[in-house]
Amino acid sequence: MAKYKIEGGSRLSGEIKIHGAKNSVLPILAATLLTKESTIHNCPDLTDVVAACNILRYLGCAIDTQDEDIHIVPEELSCCDIPDGLMREMRSSVVFLGAIIARCGKARVSLPGGCELGPRPIDLHLSSLEKLGVVIAEDHGYLECSVPDKLRGANILLPFPSVGATENIMLAACTAEGDTVIHNPAREPEIEDLANFLNKAGAKVTIRENGSIYISGVQGLTAVEYSVIPDRIAAATYLCCAAITGGEVLLKSVVPEHMNAIFPMLEEAGCAVMVDQDSVFLRMTGRPKAIKLVRTMPYPGFPTDAQSPLMALSCIATGTSVYVENIFESRYKHAAELARMGARINIEGRVAVVEGVETLHGATMVCTDLRGGAALVTAALAAEGMSEITHISHIERGYQDFDKNLASLGANIVKV
Ligand code: UD1
Repeated sequence: MAKYKIEGGSRLSGEIKIHGAKNSVLPILAATLLTKESTIHNCPDLTDVVAACNILRYLGCAIDTQDEDIHIVPEELSCCDIPDGLMREMRSSVVFLGAIIARCGKARVSLPGGCELGPRPIDLHLSSLEKLGVVIAEDHGYLECSVPDKLRGANILLPFPSVGATENIMLAACTAEGDTVIHNPAREPEIEDLANFLNKAGAKVTIRENGSIYISGVQGLTAVEYSVIPDRIAAATYLCCAAITGGEVLLKSVVPEHMNAIFPMLEEAGCAVMVDQDSVFLRMTGRPKAIKLVRTMPYPGFPTDAQSPLMALSCIATGTSVYVENIFESRYKHAAELARMGARINIEGRVAVVEGVETLHGATMVCTDLRGGAALVTAALAAEGMSEITHISHIERGYQDFDKNLASLGANIVKV
C-alpha cells in the first residue's frame, strides 16, 4: 500500500497550475449520459474520475481518454443499473441516479453506505425525484426506480441546499416534460458549472439572482464540448500548505471569486493574499496567527472541504482558533491523527478548539478521508522530523499529483 514520507521543515516556494474541479467533473460525467456525445476538457486525473468513467463504461458508453480530455459517446446503453462494487468505488456515484432515470426511465443502484464523514443520507435526492414522477422502492440494499408515466417538472423546495440533491434534480428535470423550479438549491460554483454544461448541450437551465434554479424541459441534449472549472478546494489546500511552511506560492488557473470565503481566513492567519484575474499569490511570514472563528457553511460560506487543511495551519498558530462544522456530522477524524504530531485539538460535537503549539513533531498517521488526509500532509510539511502517512488512496481521490506538486514547490515528500 502506497504511503507518503515527508521530512518537514522545507519552506515552499514556486508556482503550480490547479487542476479541474473533482466536484464539477463527476456530475458532468453523469450528465453526459443525456447528450449525443461529449468532450470534456480539463478533467483531473483522479481515482474518482476513473470510477465515474468505469460506471459510464459499464452502462455501455464508449470512452476515450487523452491527457485532460475525456470523450464520451453514450449511444446505446446496455443497462440501467450500477452494481454495488462500482457504487462503492466512489461515494458520490449517487449523482448518476438522476441521469440514468432521465435517460432510461428507470434505474437500479445499490444504496450508498455510510461514509467517512458520517452517515450520508440521500432522502432529499429521493423525495425530489419522486416529485418529478419517479417511483422508488428499496429491495435488498438496492433502490429500484421506475417512471410509470413520464418525468414531469415540479416545484421542489430543498429544506437544506444539498449539492448532490440539487444536481440529481437538475439531471432528471432537464429533459422532463414542463418546468421545474428548485427553491433553496445549493449555490456552489460546481452547480453553475453543471448548469453551463447542460445549457451548452441545449438544456434550458437558469439560475436566478435569489439562487433558485429554473429548468424548462427540452426533448433531448445534443453533442457538446466543455471545459470544467478549476478545483477551488485543491487551490485552498495548496495555499494552506505554502502558508504552514512560511512560504509563498502562485496558483495559476484558478477562479479567485470562488474562493472569496477562504481568503479572509488565510489573511486572519497572517497570510498576504493577492488575487489576479485567474491566479492567486500567497506569502506567509512567521508563525500563523489564530483564527477566531471558522464556520463551515453552504456556498458562498466557508467550504467544509477546506476546513481540515486550514485546521492544520491553526495547529501551529500563536493562539486558539475555533472551528464549527455545520455541514457534516463527523468531519473531525483528522484531529486524532494531528494529535499524534502534538497538535492540541478539543472536539465537542460540531466544535473544535485548536490551541496552537510552537512545534509539531513528525509521526506515523493514517488518512481517514480525502480532505482530512490532505490536512495531515499539510501539517507534516511543517513538522520537525519525518512523518509517514498511510492510506493515501483517500487523497488520490481528489488531488492529482499531490506529492509531485508539493515536491516541485520544494517539499521533501516521496510516495513509497
Ligand atoms: C458535495 C461534495 C463534497 C462537499 C459537500 C458539501 C461532491 C462530489 N461532493 O457532497 O465534497 O463536502 O457537497 O459542500 O460534489 N444531506 C441529507 N440528505 C440528503 C442529502 C444531503 O441530509 O438527501 C445532508 C448530508 O448528510 C450533509 C449535508 O446534507 O450533512 C450536505 O450534503 P450535500 O450538500 O448533499 O453533500 P454531497 O453532495 O454529498
